[in-house]
Amino acid sequence: MHYSVMKEEVIEALNIQETGIYVDATLGYAGHSSEILKRIKKGILFAFDADKEAISYSHQLLLTIGSNFKLFHANFKDMEKYLKDEKIEEVDGYLFDLGVSSPQIDNEKRGFSFMKNGSLDMRMNQDSKISAQDIVNSYSEQSLRDIFFKYGEEKQSRVIAKEIINARKQKAITKTLELVEVIKKSVGANYFYKNHPERLIFQALRIEVNQELSSLEIALEYAIKHLKKGGRIVVLTFHSLEDRIVKNIFKKYSEVDEVFKGMPSIPLEYQPIIKIINKKAIQASNQELQENSRSKSAKMRVIERI
Ligand SMILES: C[S@@+](CC[C@H](N)C(=O)[O-])C[C@H]1O[C@@H](n2cnc3c(N)ncnc32)[C@H](O)[C@@H]1O
Repeated sequence: MHYSVMKEEVIEALNIQETGIYVDATLGYAGHSSEILKRIKKGILFAFDADKEAISYSHQLLLTIGSNFKLFHANFKDMEKYLKDEKIEEVDGYLFDLGVSSPQIDNEKRGFSFMKNGSLDMRMNQDSKISAQDIVNSYSEQSLRDIFFKYGEEKQSRVIAKEIINARKQKAITKTLELVEVIKKSVGANYFYKNHPERLIFQALRIEVNQELSSLEIALEYAIKHLKKGGRIVVLTFHSLEDRIVKNIFKKYSEVDEVFKGMPSIPLEYQPIIKIINKKAIQASNQELQENSRSKSAKMRVIERI
């Protein structure tokens, strides 16, 4: 089952105009996109997803609502190229609902879940070249350690990377639960059951496989600069690394640079171009938290172009 996180809050925050141009950077199973499309009878929706299954499912679903949309099977980091080809210079609203969808997690063949045995894959785009298996079996100990530390913030990154190198000398690690066993062996049962390091190691591998953080930075920078006056960007993040990036980029464009603080006038190109709509990230309602556990870690940030 697919659940769209904070659906009502997202739609309200987008402040949708009937004639507007909207970009859903993370189409998924079109829960949010359906609501956008219903509200833009005279507008147009462009949506991206790296996952072909999400694109084909959502295409059929959206056709039941309207035909004023176009879907791209592509990474949202490349939105500039796709939107330029459509001759779109400015957009009324962008939505980023980051991470993976429940159908991706639930399908053990995709390898996103550390609770189900499947091939160690984790590619959002089934056509991309590097999978988690490639990384686990070919990266150096130092690189693995760095990834686990940087993208998982896992304290035991060093011992986990070391044990992976030992294990793969015997036999390549190809299954999700094999990797979970290696992690358990490296940190010991006590630490494992208390801290669940497999959660963070899987997160780190997923971020590396899909280059998630750099894609987010590239796309957000683009979206801010190609947003109509009064247009909105809504971002839902699911862990602190993503949230930090969003917060910092929004800060950069909404505040006057230190250098100019206190000066009587600020050159036009250094003036803030966005305003932050909610200073504190918005979280899901209690009712939603009861319905969907994934909403627990969701944080919504919203800005408006000025
Ligand atoms: C949480 S789901 C989106 C759910 C969607 N909002 C809904 O209501 O159904 C995130 C989706 O974004 C896609 N995705 C994540 N990062 C991406 C990227 N950099 N480029 C393109 N698609 C991406 C994933 O494949 C997944 O389908």
